[in-house]
Amino acid sequence: MTAPLIDPFARPISYLRVSVTDRCDFRCVYCMAENMTFLPKKELLTLEELDRISTTFIRLGVEKLRITGGEPLVRKGIMTYFQAMQRHLDSGALKELTLTTNGSQLRRFARDLADCGVRRINVSLDTLDDKKFADITRWGRLAQVLDGIEAAQDAGMRVKINAVALKGFNEDELFTLQDWCATRGMDLTFIEVMPMGDLGNEDRLDQYWSLKDLRARLAERFTLTDLAERTGGPARYVRLEETGQKIGFITPMTHNFCESCNRVRLTCTGELYMCLGQEDMADLRAPLRADPDNTLLEDAIRAAILRKPKGHDFDYSRQAVDGQVSRHMSHTGG
Ligand code: GTP
Ligand code: 5AD
Ligand code: SF4
Repeated sequence: MTAPLIDPFARPISYLRVSVTDRCDFRCVYCMAENMTFLPKKELLTLEELDRISTTFIRLGVEKLRITGGEPLVRKGIMTYFQAMQRHLDSGALKELTLTTNGSQLRRFARDLADCGVRRINVSLDTLDDKKFADITRWGRLAQVLDGIEAAQDAGMRVKINAVALKGFNEDELFTLQDWCATRGMDLTFIEVMPMGDLGNEDRLDQYWSLKDLRARLAERFTLTDLAERTGGPARYVRLEETGQKIGFITPMTHNFCESCNRVRLTCTGELYMCLGQEDMADLRAPLRADPDNTLLEDAIRAAILRKPKGHDFDYSRQAVDGQVSRHMSHTGG
C-alpha cells in the first residue's frame, strides 16, 4: 500500500490544484498586472507531463483535481488533458475533476467538459454590470461570460459563481448577484481579496471588504442557517432560508481556515506551492524529467509535503498590509 500524503501538521493532502497556463484573456486587477509578461511556451510542462504529475498525486491519495490558470481553457489542447484524467474518475481513484474558469470559453468547451466527467464548475464573476465588468477584467465582455455560463448549465454542469468582495466596487450589487444566482439555481461564493501581486499596498487596503460585514448585510434581509457541509475547498456555507440558496464565504483575512487545509498547487512550469500565501515552492520538473519511472518525482512530492507551512501570514490589520506575496494570483491559479 502506498502511504498517503500527510503534512507536518497532520493534515492529509487530498486536493491538487493544477495551473495549466499562466495566460488569460482577461486581466482582473486583483490577479494580474496590465502588462503581464507571459512565459515562453517552451517553459511549460507538456500535457503528458501534467498527466504524469497529476497521476502520481492521485496514486498518493489525491481525490480532487481542480484545473486552474491563468484561464485554463486558453491552454492549447487542454481537452486532451481532461480526457486523460477521466480514466481516474472511471477507476474511482479520483472523486472530482473540476475547474475554475473566467467563463469566456465555456460556450466552446462546456459539452466536452461534461463528457469528460466534469459535474460542477466555478466561474469567476464579480459584477453584472457591463461597464464595471470591463473595468475589473480590464477589457472582458460580460455577455460572453453569461453566454458561457448558460452553455455550462445546458450541458448539465452545476455552476458556482465566485465573486471577490470589493469595497466601492460590488458592495451595491450584493443582492443583485444573490438574486441573479438564485433565479438560475446557482450557488454563490464571496471571497475576501488577498494581498498578492505587485499592486501597491494601498490598493489592497482600499479594496478590502470584510465578509463579516457582507454577511451582516445579508442577515438584515434573510435568515441565515450555517451548514456543516464542505466541498473540500476553503468555503463555509450558509443557506438562505427564504430562497433555499447556498452562499459560501472564503475568508482568508477574517477567519483563517488553514487549520483544515488539504491542498497544494502545481504551476504550469512544475513548481509545487505548498501554500497560496507563502513564497516557498519545490521544483518537480527536474525530478520528473530525470526519471521516467516517477520514483524521483514521488520522492520530491513527499519531501515537499513535509515542508508545508502552518498557514499564510496575510494581514490587513494595523492599517497596513502584512504578509503580502509578490507573485501574482494567476501564477498559482488562486
Ligand atoms: P470548491 O471545490 O467549490 O470548494 O472550490 P475552491 O474554493 O477550492 O476553489 P476556487 O478555485 O473556486 O477558489 C476560490 C477562492 O478560494 C480563490 O480566491 C482561491 O484563491 C481561494 N482559495 C482556495 N484555496 C485556498 C487556500 O488554501 N488558501 C487561501 N488563502 N485561499 C484559497
Ligand atoms: N484575492 C482573492 N481572490 C482572488 N482571485 C484572483 N485573485 C484574487 C485575490 N487577489 C480569485 C478569482 C477566481 C479565483 C480562482 O481566485 O476571482 O475566482
Ligand atoms: Fe484571468 Fe481569472 Fe486572473 Fe481574472 S482572476 S485575470 S479571469 S486568471
